[in-house]
Amino acid sequence: MTLEKHTKIIFENIKIENQIDFFNLWKEIFNLIYSNKKANFNDPLIVSRIHKNFYLCKYFASIKSVEGDILECGVYKGFSSLLLRTLEKKLCISNKNNFFLVDSFEGLSEILEEDKPENKNIYQSKKGDLKANIDNVETLFKNFDNVHILKGWIPEIFDILDDYNRYKFIHIDLDLYQPTYDTLNYIYDKVVRGGMIITDDYQTPLFPGNKKAWEKFCKYKNIGFFSLPSGQAVIIKE
Ligand SMILES: C[S@@+](CC[C@H](N)C(=O)[O-])C[C@H]1O[C@@H](n2cnc3c(N)ncnc32)[C@H](O)[C@@H]1O
Repeated sequence: MTLEKHTKIIFENIKIENQIDFFNLWKEIFNLIYSNKKANFNDPLIVSRIHKNFYLCKYFASIKSVEGDILECGVYKGFSSLLLRTLEKKLCISNKNNFFLVDSFEGLSEILEEDKPENKNIYQSKKGDLKANIDNVETLFKNFDNVHILKGWIPEIFDILDDYNRYKFIHIDLDLYQPTYDTLNYIYDKVVRGGMIITDDYQTPLFPGNKKAWEKFCKYKNIGFFSLPSGQAVIIKE
C-alpha cells in the first residue's frame, strides 16, 4: 500500500470544527502557495507536514474563544501562516486580533554547534537556507485584515513589537537553537492565561537545536510541556 493511500485513510473527512474539513483546507492552501502544483502524498516530508499542520490547526481551534494576538516566528513562504489565518476566518473568530508574522526573509541565521545533527549522514543546514521572498508572502495576505509581516532577524526584530501586546497563540518554526530560545525568552511572559506556544521541530533529527533550546527554557522556567506524536511540542500557559 502506498503512503498516499495511508495519508488518505488517516486524513480524509476529518473535521476540525464547524464542519471544516482539514484535508480540503490543507490542499486549498497548498494550491495557493505552490500555484496548483500537485502535492505528492507519497513524499514522507509532505506527509509529515500534513501531520504537523493537523495538530497545529487542532490546537489553534481549541482556543478560539481566548482573546489575544497571534505570532508566528518562521514564516518562509507563508504556508502555516496562511493555514492558520484561513482557519481563523472559517471558524468565524473576529479578526480584531493582530497576526504578526516574523521572518528574516534571508533564510536561516548562524548555525551553532547545538544545531549540528549527530548523524553525519544527515544534511547540515547552512546560513541562508530557506530564503523566501517577502513580496510573495505579502501578496498572499493582501485580502486579510490586521496581518503584520515583519522582516528582520530574531531577536532584534522584536524591538518593533509593542511590549504591551498580549498573545494567545505562538507558532515557532525557526529550526535553530538560538532564535528558538530567544523567541521563548521574549514571548513567554506575554502569553495570556490559556494561551499556547507550539514548536514545529521538537523531534526533528535535521534540526536538533530546537529541542535543546525548548528544553533549556522549560527547565529554566520550570514549565511543563507536551510532546506530540508529530514531533512538535506544546506549552499551555496555566
Ligand atoms: C522551516 S521555515 C518556516 C516554515 C513555515 N512555518 C511554513 O509552514 O512553511 C524556517 C524559517 O525560519 C527563518 N529564520 C531562521 N532563523 C531566523 C532568525 N534568526 N530570525 C528570523 N528568521 C529566521 C527562515 O528565514 C525560514 O523562513
